[in-house]
Amino acid sequence: MVHDTGPPDRHIGGVSGKRGGRPIEEETPTMSNQVLTILRDAVDATCVLTDPDVMTGYVRDWTGRFVGRTAAVVRPANTAQVAAVVQACAQHEVALVPQGGNTGLAGGGVPTRGEILLSLRGLSDILQVDVAAGQATVGAGVPVGVLREAASAAGLGYGVDLASRDSATVGGTVATNAGGLRVLRYGDTRAQLLGVEAVLGDGSVVSHLAGLARDNTGYHLPSLLAGSEGTLGVVTAVRVRLTPATRARAVGLIGLASVPDAVAAASLLRNGLPGLAAAELMLPPGIDLVMRACRLSPPLRGTHAAYLLVEVTGDAPGEDGAGGNGPLDILADAVAGLPGVADASLADDRPGREALWAYRERHTESINTCGTPVKMDVTVTPDALPSFVEAVPAAVRAVAPEASTWLFGHVAEGNVHVNVTGAAGVGERVEDTVFRLVAERGGSISTEHGIGTAKRRWLPLNRSPAEIAAFRRIKQALDPAGILNPNVLLPAL
Ligand code: MLT
Ligand code: ZN
Repeated sequence: MVHDTGPPDRHIGGVSGKRGGRPIEEETPTMSNQVLTILRDAVDATCVLTDPDVMTGYVRDWTGRFVGRTAAVVRPANTAQVAAVVQACAQHEVALVPQGGNTGLAGGGVPTRGEILLSLRGLSDILQVDVAAGQATVGAGVPVGVLREAASAAGLGYGVDLASRDSATVGGTVATNAGGLRVLRYGDTRAQLLGVEAVLGDGSVVSHLAGLARDNTGYHLPSLLAGSEGTLGVVTAVRVRLTPATRARAVGLIGLASVPDAVAAASLLRNGLPGLAAAELMLPPGIDLVMRACRLSPPLRGTHAAYLLVEVTGDAPGEDGAGGNGPLDILADAVAGLPGVADASLADDRPGREALWAYRERHTESINTCGTPVKMDVTVTPDALPSFVEAVPAAVRAVAPEASTWLFGHVAEGNVHVNVTGAAGVGERVEDTVFRLVAERGGSISTEHGIGTAKRRWLPLNRSPAEIAAFRRIKQALDPAGILNPNVLLPAL
């Protein structure tokens, strides 16, 4: 039996706090002491934190929806220490939850059932920026923004970017296979991975960091570990591809007559502009909320039924030697040819671009000002997207009349963030309603935040019994004691 070490989860929305066997509370005090001894024996005792004030920041997620407890936060400084912790936990059947920057949005990095919290933030070295190979090797605890800066200092870029870049760690983005704002151009985190180092559930270390761009020597563990949410191994370092530096970029915020117009515009731009790097949908309630919460002026004249934020990259004007247009001209021409455009604001200077991006990037923090959100990130096909966007608010109102629904997202991939506030007590009914709308349209209930604890019971909407059985066999093979993040991703048995 795998031991939890603390009280049951307090997942707002009602995931059961009970598990099989004795009530958790009965065994907590003894278990906690045993576990602390085991952990202090495994690593430097200063890496084992038990001060409740210090632990608070680790056991609660950023939204406040997932609040857990733990007997200890362990902060190893290197892979050997991670391996020692995992090995000790495996030997004593103690469950642990790996955590990066604690920016996850599906409860996957919070010890909701009293598991030990294994923080990877201490593995924060940029190990190598290999300009010749166009690759970097970094510790799992390096924030995405720091990797991006290191790449930029070497005249290169890193394809994954997200609003939480300064806190989200590279290891965390691997564990969740984070997407972010430029999947359209560079793909998700999995697409950047050329190698990983990870500690498997028995404490063994697998390391394949040479970064050979062509390497068919067996199973591709980076692909398996990306999106595994800490259930198969604890990622300690990664080798990622870097991208050529962007020479020039232009951003446009476009007001359109309807959501179908915005979806069609995103498709036209994606198919017509090789330099299109991002296409993000926003709606009037979200724009209004961001303006209020962040004290921003209206981005365009008047209100529009849908807004599209697009970014185009390319050469600076004339840089191709043939007097070619820069991204701003290319974008302006393309926008002029789009149907349904009512107004647009374009910028290619940094302050101008950042001012336009703010309306999109600041959605998440603005929504949080309305209370604890129920956060969903779903994908449907582009042809199903307009009907989905139209159906969601009414469907949510039917089960949560007081709730507000906020829709925005990565429209070029059909990825809609459905955030619902004012749904206290009915969060799971809201999720059930929205996930069924997604499944009816053949979509995915989790597109970039992972399944976590939040969505595990709905995994069967997207995955067949045979697939889930295969997932369980893979987990059993790599984590035979079942200690690695045992309460996420797979539905409870
Ligand atoms: C984003 O794209 O801004 C986040 O993934 C969405 C969210 O906060 O729900
Ligand atoms: Zn997103």
